[in-house]
Amino acid sequence: MSSATASARSNIALVKYWGKSGSGDNRTAVPSLSLTLAALTTRTRVELDAALVEDEVELDGTAVTGKARERVVRVLDELRTLGGKRERARVRSHNDFPTASGLASSASGFAALVVAGSAAYGLGLSSAEQSALSRRASASAARSIFGGWTELLAEAESASELFPADHLDLKVVIALTTLGPKAVGSTSGMLQTQATSPYYPAWVSEAPALFERAKRALAERDFPSLGQAMEESTLMMHASMLAARPALVYLRAATLDVLERVRQLRADGISAYATMDAGPHVKVFVPSREAPSVEAALRGTTGVEKVVVSGPGGGARVEAG
Ligand code: ADP
Ligand code: DP6
Repeated sequence: MSSATASARSNIALVKYWGKSGSGDNRTAVPSLSLTLAALTTRTRVELDAALVEDEVELDGTAVTGKARERVVRVLDELRTLGGKRERARVRSHNDFPTASGLASSASGFAALVVAGSAAYGLGLSSAEQSALSRRASASAARSIFGGWTELLAEAESASELFPADHLDLKVVIALTTLGPKAVGSTSGMLQTQATSPYYPAWVSEAPALFERAKRALAERDFPSLGQAMEESTLMMHASMLAARPALVYLRAATLDVLERVRQLRADGISAYATMDAGPHVKVFVPSREAPSVEAALRGTTGVEKVVVSGPGGGARVEAG
């Protein structure tokens, strides 16, 4: 009986992916740029068992069924095809942060599954191959195979690392504004935006220039320009969601209060920039030395349930045991 355990960390996109390309296979319509986070981790164990009739999937101690299970089984099927293997697998996964709430659990979840699964099925895959498999399950997961600063170009097969985790000395202060799951998942939310939002074409045509601006600022370690491009990408993506029919409103009153607090902090001379994904939480990028005062400011903001401070993290890896 072969088994392997892997861990992967969530990543936060500064320049967002929101929209699938017409070429299919879950390729992205826009380029994205992200930072892998040390503090949000998935740990997944994949155990092959010839006696199993079908794959068993468990997340945080509960059996996964329906579409969520099928997504995992599709990854296992691809691994079995690559390895010429038939054994079914028992998958046990744990996210140490809220699932399906806008903190990119699908990113760390599928990256950890691919790395554990490829080890359990005895495949010696390269990082690029693991990234491509992860992308097919969830495009943001392609980026969590790598640590530090990562890009996933539009239409690309896999992501790649641009700079290591220590390229910039910063922290991400995450203000959680609800603790439950969101009503509309990222996959269906982006398909709905793509199909109905009159602002979606504008979002897609603006995205490459934003990506280039952010990438240049990152290469030059120009944190304010990077933060500015990140906020623009975030708000343009949310504008396209808000104009969908029916409207996709992931932002809550508390989300806007945190955004306002970040603007005040900037007016007070603190270099802090905010981003939100398909969820109500706000992730604030700050130079490490500013993190304690920004953390205190966000803890004191109405509607903030919890604050987590994370540094940049490493890539997905096989763990002992
Ligand atoms: P999030 O903002 O958390 O990424 P998504 O809607 O993009 O939300 O994805 C959430 C979905 O990802 C879950 O409903 C589940 O299907 C899948 N997922 C999350 N964590 C795991 C995991 N550890 N293993 C397998 N699938 C996972
Ligand atoms: C807003 O990667 O979860 O977090 O490919 O359908 O699984 P699927 O979508 P997913 O979408 C992530 C959207 C985002 C922005 C980002 O991470 O780039």
